[in-house]
Amino acid sequence: MRADASGLLDTSVRHIERRQWWLSSSGIIVTILLTVAIISFALPVLSPRADWYFPVDPSLAIHALLGLVLLFDVYVVFQQFQIYRFRQRVREREELFRLIGENAADMIALVDADGKRLYSSPSYKRLLGYSDEELQQTTFYEHIHADDRALVAAAANEARQSGIGRRVEYRVRRKDDSWLVVESTASLVQNHGSAGTKMVIVNRDITERKQLEEQLYLSQKLEAIGRLSGGVAHDFNNLLGVIIGYSEALQKQMGADHPFREAIEEIQNAGNRAAALTQQLLAFSRKQVLEPKVIDLNMVVSEVQKMLRRLIGEDIALKISLNERLGMVKADRGQIDQVILNLAVNARDAMPKGGKLIIETGNAELTESDVNRYRYVIPGQYVMLKVADTGCGMSAELQSHIFEPFFTTKEQGKGTGLGLATVYGVIKQSGGYIWVESEVGKGAAFKVYLPRVEEVRDAVPERTTFGRPQRSRTILLVEDEHSLRKLTRNTLQEAGHTVLEACDASEALDVVKRNESPIDLLLTDVVMPGMSGRALADELATLRPGIKVIYMSGYTDGDVATHGVLQSGISFLRKPFTGDVLIARVDEVLSISVLAGR
Ligand SMILES: Nc1ncnc2c1ncn2[C@@H]1O[C@H](COP(=O)(O)OP(=O)(O)OP(=O)(O)O)[C@@H](O)[C@H]1O
Ligand SMILES: [Mg+2]
Repeated sequence: MRADASGLLDTSVRHIERRQWWLSSSGIIVTILLTVAIISFALPVLSPRADWYFPVDPSLAIHALLGLVLLFDVYVVFQQFQIYRFRQRVREREELFRLIGENAADMIALVDADGKRLYSSPSYKRLLGYSDEELQQTTFYEHIHADDRALVAAAANEARQSGIGRRVEYRVRRKDDSWLVVESTASLVQNHGSAGTKMVIVNRDITERKQLEEQLYLSQKLEAIGRLSGGVAHDFNNLLGVIIGYSEALQKQMGADHPFREAIEEIQNAGNRAAALTQQLLAFSRKQVLEPKVIDLNMVVSEVQKMLRRLIGEDIALKISLNERLGMVKADRGQIDQVILNLAVNARDAMPKGGKLIIETGNAELTESDVNRYRYVIPGQYVMLKVADTGCGMSAELQSHIFEPFFTTKEQGKGTGLGLATVYGVIKQSGGYIWVESEVGKGAAFKVYLPRVEEVRDAVPERTTFGRPQRSRTILLVEDEHSLRKLTRNTLQEAGHTVLEACDASEALDVVKRNESPIDLLLTDVVMPGMSGRALADELATLRPGIKVIYMSGYTDGDVATHGVLQSGISFLRKPFTGDVLIARVDEVLSISVLAGR
């Protein structure tokens, strides 16, 4: 295409040159003819006696000469008109190339063998921010990232030898010191006899595309790790339920000075720690069940403030700045506490010699420009929580890994690498975003954005002590994990309840059909082979209207909680649970039914 265009230009220029030559030569011929004619007219006058003179009819000669001059004039006008047309065409072509060069989004440069710029299209100025003079004074290679120069030089050499440029990607420094990623192709300039010494380089800005690719890659990686850890955590919760539950039951039975007491306590502690880890994995894989309420982040920050001061120690100054007109957000209070604590602990660890921890809240609007930076952003009103420190900071490479589970730079035994993975999971599941800004040695700032809601803050429920139910109740227990079912049954029976057992939903329906007596409560696992706990509860609602339900689950499968968010009016028991928590929840649900007049 470009070869065609330049060929056309060349032909036009050659046409002009040829026409001008014709014009000049015909001018000379006509002038010679006129001179000869004038001499022949003048001869009889200059030498009247010359005998070689032969008479010419002067009137005929003058007419002939006039005709010749007239013809020549017409010829000149015609040729000038042609030249004008060709020039016009050349001007149009030049204008076209100028417009292409000036308006092309890509950066186009013509460089010589040493990389000296002979021409830079205006998009260079636009995209890189350098002035014409600055571009003139620098070589093409100077702005390229030091790590990429060898690659570019090799590609240029190859293009010089083979005549074919291959595509390379490299980083170019902008005037503001940020980096632009470009995709570049170089071609040799073939014409004007200086082939091989000049190159046309076309650079395309692919910074945004690269960022998107990285974001996609990261989210796919996180998604895969999340799915895997979610699956493991589900089975773990059942096993931990057994470990924690039995050690609790054993402790209750043995006296304070029993020789095994300490050992059992250690087992229980280890079980609890493992349960906390599993909870973090679930948070990361967004498979935990959240109980979102409308909350005020200012209040959350104020309430965790005391704990934070204790946590960060005296070397670190805590500066809290809260926006008084802060909007509300809908989130799980316990999880948001966890987010703040995890971020604060990380900040503390980044400032071993002391420093400043800054917590800030504010209203924020995410706009189209944020969408341009991060495609997944939904524009709108958000509430922002910033946790910043003056610590060691992070390189860009480190930042690209920090949200991965088990990624830690802390020494063995100091960090699990689950802190930020949990934070990421909680924020994502709450419909928000978390971004980090940091540089090595310059501290780090984590910004959390949660969607702003217009509802009023949910009242914090008073800690009411539910009176134990007046009489023993009948509870239908459905759990596919055998040991856990046995443990739960024992706990309920010890609390004075009658327990009907089933290992899955179809057995539970059989039990219900065989039993005429009333059943007060269905305590069911959610994820079971065959019919789910939710479907069983729906079925029982028609068979035994008014039956109360408590779901037990370690994670969400979307059945009782859409995207992990609990539907209102549903009682839920997070696995693994202790016997005390189980009895408290059962009492709570049954007491409510007592109050409701059942
Ligand atoms: N504020 C910060 N400043 C500097 N580096 C940080 C900061 N926050 C996190 N990091 C880096 O990110 C890594 C991962 O953090 P994350 O909270 O996920 O795990 P951890 O703190 O190492 O372990 P855990 O939180 O499970 O005890 C840290 O090891 C640290 O290198
Ligand atoms: Mg941490």
